[in-house]
Amino acid sequence: MAKPTQAEETPACYAMVHEGLESVAVDEITRDLGAEVKKAERGLVVFRPRTIGPELLKLRTVEDVYLLAWGTDTLTYRASDLDQIQQWTRKTSTWKTLFRIHQLLKPPLKSRPTFHLVCQMQGKHAYRRVDAAQAMAKGLQGNFPEPWRPVRENAYLEIWLTIRGTTAVCGVRLSDRTMRHRKYKTEHLPASLRPTIAASMVRLAAAEPDQIVVDPMCGAGTILAEQIELASLRRYTGLQTWGGDIDANTLLATQTNLKKLNNSGLARWDATKLPLARHSVDRIISNPPFGIQLGNPDNLVELYEPMIREADRVLKPGGKAVYLVTEGTILRDLIRAKKWIPGKELRIRVLGQLAFLSVWRKPETPESM
Ligand SMILES: C[S@@+](CC[C@H](N)C(=O)[O-])C[C@H]1O[C@@H](n2cnc3c(N)ncnc32)[C@H](O)[C@@H]1O
Repeated sequence: MAKPTQAEETPACYAMVHEGLESVAVDEITRDLGAEVKKAERGLVVFRPRTIGPELLKLRTVEDVYLLAWGTDTLTYRASDLDQIQQWTRKTSTWKTLFRIHQLLKPPLKSRPTFHLVCQMQGKHAYRRVDAAQAMAKGLQGNFPEPWRPVRENAYLEIWLTIRGTTAVCGVRLSDRTMRHRKYKTEHLPASLRPTIAASMVRLAAAEPDQIVVDPMCGAGTILAEQIELASLRRYTGLQTWGGDIDANTLLATQTNLKKLNNSGLARWDATKLPLARHSVDRIISNPPFGIQLGNPDNLVELYEPMIREADRVLKPGGKAVYLVTEGTILRDLIRAKKWIPGKELRIRVLGQLAFLSVWRKPETPESM
């Protein structure tokens, strides 16, 4: 994005991603969607899909998807950016095409169409967010068909301008809140994961048909739900998803969230004494309590040590585990003592804290353990 880019015949798209998960989103966008990724940085992936259709809205590791009107990475932080924003918005020749494509992906209109302009800005710029929004609005003047009406909420069409430092992207939002929040998630618990983070963990675990996947501390069941939905999207047969939690009330929430997905064995159990046979599980995907939730790092070692010992007992040789924790050093030391092989590690922020998402493989043969 050295210069502002104009959309071509199949417009480019961009996805907003939870920061730190860009590489997982790029993998999904390239491998599952077959799209060409143009740029990936700090919560943003710009890509050109082969076609634009409902499959874009099935991406699981991204928060929102947009049709790209223009993008740049040459903002200067100075007030002159506002003229540029206005000009780039005005010069975009494809607004009508973008509106038409947006309309094709939405339910048919029953009344006069409404629109809403949204501006998000991060960084210390010499102008305010409202100034940038106004510059975009001026650039858009004359681009809307006559009867369209601006509204503040529940607009039929949203045009977004997102500014992060010297980077800006402007486009038409294709997704709505259900992309991020998921329809299954009716019960929320305070420590519940964002579905896109759970989906990224599931993707990194890369379970296969006929395998057994376990979340030993399942909370509201987000990881289980994401695993079940991904397996169903991929038409995997025979994949079993089991989960449990020590807290009975939590399990009621899990049951509600998983009710319609219909494919998970749930149990009240202690993750440090699992009722599972030795070497019976292919994948463990887990987001154990963070230190802050237990109040004291000593409690964390007391929990994590038997939890990893138990994971090592139930995981098959060659099996994989994916963990999300804030105390990365404690987890790493415990897992290394079991001689598991480290894979990818990503740093993300969860509930305002730095957290480590790490992938591990248990060696195939006891000799190499
Ligand atoms: C961070 S939450 C998991 C959140 C979950 N991933 C979600 O998206 O809702 C950690 C969970 O571990 C559970 N837990 C704590 N100690 C446990 C233990 N010894 N065995 C099983 N579950 C435990 C807690 O009840 C809590 O629901």
